[in-house]
Amino acid sequence: MNELYPGLSHGKGNVLVKVQIDSRCCQGHGRCYDLVPSLFGDDEEGYGRVLGDGRVAPGQEHDAHRAVANCPERAIEIVEGM
Ligand code: F3S
Repeated sequence: MNELYPGLSHGKGNVLVKVQIDSRCCQGHGRCYDLVPSLFGDDEEGYGRVLGDGRVAPGQEHDAHRAVANCPERAIEIVEGM
């Protein structure tokens, strides 16, 4: 990670990194928004949702991967280059 210019080392080069939730798989376990409230929230029924456009800020990649690893339904994906 380039500390002076963090955007330059975000993901692979300058690739945009986002998280997304497959609503067909989400069962509302809530681990995503409990663990990483900066990236995920819940809807009125307790299902997970991505905050904003799901963009993962430089330095937040670890949190995004933690959410992926902790979703029992494997409903969270990290996508690059969108
Ligand atoms: Fe849904 Fe997984 Fe989060 S089941 S609420 S995306 S931990």
